Amino acid sequence: MNILLTGATGLVGGELLVTLSKRKEVDKIFCLLRSASHEVAMERLEKVFDLHEDHFDEQKIVPVLGNLFDEDLTDALTNNTELSDIDVVIHSAANTSFSRFNDDAVEKANIGGLTKILLWAKQLAHLKTFLYIGTATICGKDVKDRVVHEDESPNIDATHLVKYTYTKMKGELLIREHLPEDKILIARPSIIMGDSRPIIPRSPVILWAMATINHLRLIPVNEHAQLDIIPVDYAANAIVQLLFSKRKYSVYHISAGEEGSTTALKLSETLAAYFDEMPPFNFINKGLLNQVKHWTRGRLAPDSELYEYRSYLDYWKETFEDRSKLRILFSGLDPYLDFMELGHVFDNTRLLEDVDIENSIPADVYINESMKFVEKLDIMEGAIDP
Ligand SMILES: NC(=O)c1ccc[n+]([C@@H]2O[C@H](COP(=O)([O-])OP(=O)(O)OC[C@H]3O[C@@H](n4cnc5c(N)ncnc54)[C@H](OP(=O)(O)O)[C@@H]3O)[C@@H](O)[C@H]2O)c1
Repeated sequence: MNILLTGATGLVGGELLVTLSKRKEVDKIFCLLRSASHEVAMERLEKVFDLHEDHFDEQKIVPVLGNLFDEDLTDALTNNTELSDIDVVIHSAANTSFSRFNDDAVEKANIGGLTKILLWAKQLAHLKTFLYIGTATICGKDVKDRVVHEDESPNIDATHLVKYTYTKMKGELLIREHLPEDKILIARPSIIMGDSRPIIPRSPVILWAMATINHLRLIPVNEHAQLDIIPVDYAANAIVQLLFSKRKYSVYHISAGEEGSTTALKLSETLAAYFDEMPPFNFINKGLLNQVKHWTRGRLAPDSELYEYRSYLDYWKETFEDRSKLRILFSGLDPYLDFMELGHVFDNTRLLEDVDIENSIPADVYINESMKFVEKLDIMEGAIDP
């Protein structure tokens, strides 16, 4: 089997690359990545393997230089004769930013870039499967506090917290415009955080949100809302196994489901047990987030309800000194708090039925393996460059 993988330097793509490279059915994995030269591309790919000391097989892993923004990407792929025998395309590259400042780039990468990949892939003589790494969060923000099933999306009427999930929803519609059903496989992971193994996590992105919550301790979010979180090793194993399984469907949630989901409260208990010298966690109504933001600007009304939590305001003053740091942290955390409030649980029955895999370990349990890493995370750096 010859694979073209995009996004191989990312959290999901990196773990997919390593997992796929260990499969004997796989002959070559061509990795589309942005790079100034072949040498630098090889170095970037080698780093993906070095992180956990996996074997980097130079004969098996082949870089293909390209950017989703390149106008001539479709032609460049089509003219690359090395790629004419590709039978599986795995599209994991995306701009995953939640920031509205990146909306244009998100649209350009996730819709424009995907279109270019599809225009090339649909002409392949031996294409068996186009595996799109989607996201379960395309169900949107109107769905709240319940189990969500695969067939509910893509729903063109869904409303979205961020442009990113909208573009991922549009992406699924685009794929169906270009390819027949029997060539499509859509894996929709839920929220991917850290790793369930005691190793350096491949990406600090969602861990940053958890580490920030750990430092803040007074959190405006519903602590009982369900959180469907999985580790990246589980996500990659499930996706690769799905690729090689006999499947009944073209869309699968890669998720914790009802049994494996967690809550902010459970995660806070795990954090509190490890970081036992910090103030206790206190969860307050999400509506108070605006007052928190006013406080960080020194503009909180004297009769604000937030003064009931004066000991936390004092703790923040002492810990962060400069309130602008808190402003930065809360603006980075804001979209995560919105997602946490939704209470989505993504049904994983399809995955468990069609793939030989157990339920994912709940995040409040597996995350114990990453506590030392969470402890070292520089939350200010993560907030500035999320
Ligand atoms: N992380 C999650 O919690 C999560 C959950 C559900 C679904 N997903 C989905 O999983 C997929 C991968 O996400 P991730 O978390 O792995 O993201 P990530 O860590 O940000 O990685 C994104 C990858 O896409 C590549 N990329 C971005 N823009 C590109 C461009 N213009 N041209 C070429 N490559 C580009 C990046 O390359 P560079 O290294 O060059 O930047 C990187 O390899 C996405 O489709 C996302 O929707 C992620």
